[in-house]
Amino acid sequence: MGRLTDRTVLVTGATGGMGAATVRALAAEGAHVGVADISPDLTFALAREVGGTPLVVDVTSPDSVTAGVETLASEQGRIDVLVNFAGIVDPRRMDEIDPESWSRVFDVNVRGTWLMCTAVIPHMPPGSSIVNIGSRAGLAGGTTSGASYAASKAAVICFTKSLAKFAAPKGIRANVINPGCIETPMLDHFPPEVVAAMPGQAALGRLGTPSEIADSVLFLATDASSFMTGAQLNVNGGSHM
Ligand SMILES: NC(=O)c1ccc[n+]([C@@H]2O[C@H](COP(=O)([O-])OP(=O)(O)OC[C@H]3O[C@@H](n4cnc5c(N)ncnc54)[C@H](O)[C@@H]3O)[C@@H](O)[C@H]2O)c1
Repeated sequence: MGRLTDRTVLVTGATGGMGAATVRALAAEGAHVGVADISPDLTFALAREVGGTPLVVDVTSPDSVTAGVETLASEQGRIDVLVNFAGIVDPRRMDEIDPESWSRVFDVNVRGTWLMCTAVIPHMPPGSSIVNIGSRAGLAGGTTSGASYAASKAAVICFTKSLAKFAAPKGIRANVINPGCIETPMLDHFPPEVVAAMPGQAALGRLGTPSEIADSVLFLATDASSFMTGAQLNVNGGSHM
């Protein structure tokens, strides 16, 4: 019997580096996983692999979010855990960013997280858990990643505190994980010399792995963290203390 047997979990950004590792870890613990991402091919393939429900969702579209959430909720009857990985990065400096890109980063990272939480909460029974994904950049201002990304992740961190207060009377917990530099396709957006310097920024002297983030999600998704809400888990190898 897994730690999430009989639980339904919805993961956005599910086919990305951290998302796919987490989907596999959740399924291995017995969860039925709603695999939500914007790319149909990857979404269907991963859902098939773990026996989950494919949900082709663009988190910036209220209609798309509602359709995906309603599909999973009507199929499974409830959603016990929501994990919001969907995100994009713009590594440029603040004087290089254009207004459209600034808005796009906030649309996906902040508005998308809010839309997903708002749509899922009505389907969550007491005891449910929401895990949002901030970033070390949202605490430190971003060193390699750009200003819009860092500001958007600071917004996700603060939003999670509002969310935790809103959801607590319903018996729902909400916490945020702030990863440091993790080895995923997102790092491909940075110049090679920037990626090469990333391990040296961490006290542990290396990049993190997607499965180390998946382990943190499992902790926040289960009753192992039953007295935690509105909290931040900094999983960064000591790159920001
Ligand atoms: N990799 C890192 O070092 C790092 C560090 C800190 C925080 N993060 C955050 O962790 C999360 C996961 O990142 P990752 O490293 O796995 O990146 P990734 O690029 O591998 O995955 C991101 C996923 O989000 C999906 N996505 C993008 N826009 C979407 C949209 N509009 N609707 C639905 N899905 C969409 C992509 O298709 C992709 O599968 C992101 O929020 C990212 O900002 C990453």
